[in-house]
Amino acid sequence: MTKCIGILTSGGDCAGLNATIRAVALRAHHGYGWKTIGISHGTHGLLHRPVAAEPLDPGRLDAVLARQGGTFLGTTNRGNPFAFPMPDGTIRDRSGEMLDGLRSLHLDGLIGVGGDGSLEILRRLFSKTTLPFIGIPKTIDNDVGRTERAIGYSTAVAIATEALDRLQPTGASHERIMVLEVMGRDAGHIAIAAGIAGGADIVLIPEVRWRLTHVVQHIAALRRAGRTSALVVVAEAADHSHEEGARGEASVGEWLASRLVRATGAEARATVLGHVQRGAQPTAEDRLLAAALGIGAVDLLAAGKADRMVAWWNRTVIDVPLERVVGRCRAVDPDGTLTRTARALGICLGDAA
Ligand code: F6P
Repeated sequence: MTKCIGILTSGGDCAGLNATIRAVALRAHHGYGWKTIGISHGTHGLLHRPVAAEPLDPGRLDAVLARQGGTFLGTTNRGNPFAFPMPDGTIRDRSGEMLDGLRSLHLDGLIGVGGDGSLEILRRLFSKTTLPFIGIPKTIDNDVGRTERAIGYSTAVAIATEALDRLQPTGASHERIMVLEVMGRDAGHIAIAAGIAGGADIVLIPEVRWRLTHVVQHIAALRRAGRTSALVVVAEAADHSHEEGARGEASVGEWLASRLVRATGAEARATVLGHVQRGAQPTAEDRLLAAALGIGAVDLLAAGKADRMVAWWNRTVIDVPLERVVGRCRAVDPDGTLTRTARALGICLGDAA
């Protein structure tokens, strides 16, 4: 009998999701003769009646899809099934309704593409069924445990690097300090990678405790060496709460730029890159990762595995138990290769001038 698997994307979108969905459906069809159903809007699609889902006809999944940003299935990073915010302001457990919706699809397995938070929720939800569940890691933040790469990260780093390439000439022309704030949630992976690739002078990440005074001293040293402009990358969660006057609504990038104006007398401008880092055409690296992990996930279901996540490790697709992934975000190693590389290039991480 032909099997039928489901796929959904959950959490914030990122580049490479469409390439992942395509790889899953093509592998299911060509490799095993299975059908694939795409569930819309993450777990929210399971609340609709009938469930918001569509069969993914392999004939529709040409390579154009692999080039497109976003997720054609839609996604959500709101509405935890176990604590779902209702329009009247109350919170309800809607996991039972979602599982009823899931049962109506008569699936033989389910693949969820998500970051750490989504995979934890999906694992909890589907543990209440006998349906085999496999996770695929995606997030621009690259903080999912037990995988060296998550889908979407490469593209976000490329965009942040390109932003630095554009900020450098305008900063140099006006003799300004250009501050670029990048996403990353609680981790500094995008900031440190883009900072190195984009030739930043200063990179501030949550994993390294930094002080404004060290940043100011480094800018003074650059000036003494003849530099009239500076490039600063700051991760959105780079903690500045220990600094005087740090409170307020301003983002850390805007706050930093205003403090640097006061402390150095130079002009400074802040760019908060935001969602530009997410909705882009995926890089070749993200397309490759999406293809390899998508295929790996279907192969796991075919091998009868469940409750696991496919991961990229040492240039190979491996699989790891989901229980060893969820709740264990991977931060930047403060003494790892990237931080050592940055320091060796003379990039100031704010912990010393
Ligand atoms: O997790 C991905 C991410 O883009 C983070 O880097 C960022 O902090 C957050 O999502 C933004 O969420 P939202 O799209 O809800 O603004």
